[in-house]
Amino acid sequence: MKETLEQPGFLATAGTLGADVSYLLALVFTLLFLVAWGFAKKAQGTKHHKLILVSMVSMVVYFCAYYYARQLGVLAFEGKEGFGGPQEVYDNVFLPTLTTHLVLVTLGLIMAFYMLIEGFRASEKVNGEYVLKAGELKVSAKTFKIVMFAILGLWGVNQLFLTLVRHASMGANIAWGLIFGTIALVVSIEKGIEKLLPDGARRHRILGRGTMIIYGLILITSTMTYLMLYVIYPAK
Ligand code: HEM
Repeated sequence: MKETLEQPGFLATAGTLGADVSYLLALVFTLLFLVAWGFAKKAQGTKHHKLILVSMVSMVVYFCAYYYARQLGVLAFEGKEGFGGPQEVYDNVFLPTLTTHLVLVTLGLIMAFYMLIEGFRASEKVNGEYVLKAGELKVSAKTFKIVMFAILGLWGVNQLFLTLVRHASMGANIAWGLIFGTIALVVSIEKGIEKLLPDGARRHRILGRGTMIIYGLILITSTMTYLMLYVIYPAK
């Protein structure tokens, strides 16, 4: 698999097949999200919701397959050794762009899950079309506790599986801890967000636009990274 991904690409002369396919897919997913924004703007709630679901599922499948196939993140694979430009450009342009990109991707993934759940909670079906319902949207103290305990329980079960069946490394345990910790953190932050933006519909529109802007920036930073690595400063 690794050898196939390292074959010459089809977009830029210096690109690899892995880089080209992953860039094209990233392009398609972000564009799908932006088209879904267009549907929401035209008040086509159902089309918006369906396209968001399709793009999210394919994006998550792609992420898992991509990281599984390439084993390591972009930094290790295409960082220093893949960059053929001057050190100054590497330090002042390439690395900040790539770091911003990775931060935005992480944020974008977290926000996609958050918005998906918020979208279902904040909307209702009227004559077959999803519409946002105005009014306060709050998680009750009881539901909050149930969700938190469920996260804790799932982490515990996963931890047992990792220790007894997979004999997982310390790194894997920490990574899973961070994933469950992030989920718990987002659920807790929701309590604060509820105070700032109590109206569910308004919350969906404001945070949704923020999320869409993140996707736009992801598109820009991934294009910049791709261009620098494979078009402007390919490895010599
Ligand atoms: C990643 C997930 C999502 C994002 C980023 C997102 C983003 C947005 C944005 C930005 C708007 C406002 C458009 C505008 O006025 O600029 C919006 C509206 C809306 N969203 Fe979402 N959304 C997501 C998921 C969902 C889901 C899962 C549902 C339904 C189950 C949903 C239902 C709606 C509805 C009904 C509207 C109102 C459309 C109208 O104005 O009539 N969204 N969304």
